[in-house]
Amino acid sequence: MERLKSPPATAVPLSTAPANPHYRRIGGEGAVRRLVERFYQLMNELPEARAIRAMHPEDLASSQEKLFLFLSGWLGGPPLYTERYGPPRLRQKHLPFPIDAPARDAWMACMRQALEEQVKDSELRSQLTAAFFKTADFLRNQP
Ligand code: HEM
Repeated sequence: MERLKSPPATAVPLSTAPANPHYRRIGGEGAVRRLVERFYQLMNELPEARAIRAMHPEDLASSQEKLFLFLSGWLGGPPLYTERYGPPRLRQKHLPFPIDAPARDAWMACMRQALEEQVKDSELRSQLTAAFFKTADFLRNQP
């Protein structure tokens, strides 16, 4: 019986494989902070976001910080949200808010514009847009 061969010496060790490609490709912590800041500015400004803006507290500072902490880990960077608050349980945390398809689309309108303004790599931008849509739709709790 032929013995299993060990991997060739030239194989790339796991430790040098990219563990956080999206986080790095978007530009790391500063870029994620700027994205979240612009996202909430747009939520304040876009008329189609009025209903979802009204679900949030008047002062958006803590919502902004929590979204930043969450996205850091979600994009493959440091899992800051989990370190601070434990498992995100996003679906459960969004249940108090009536999230229907228009609410999802309003959230996406803010995120889509923020991504268009700040992520120049169009392949990365469309991957992120699709991933955000999946998550936003997963949080929908009404038709
Ligand atoms: C689908 C439309 C969405 C609506 C209407 C919505 C609305 C909200 C509201 C009203 C809050 C509470 C704000 C606060 O307590 O400061 C919240 C919290 C949060 N949302 Fe969303 N959200 C949506 C989608 C998303 C998506 C797609 C993500 C992630 C990619 C996300 C991540 C978060 C996080 C991390 C928090 C903080 C949770 C915590 O209290 O620890 N949300 N959202």
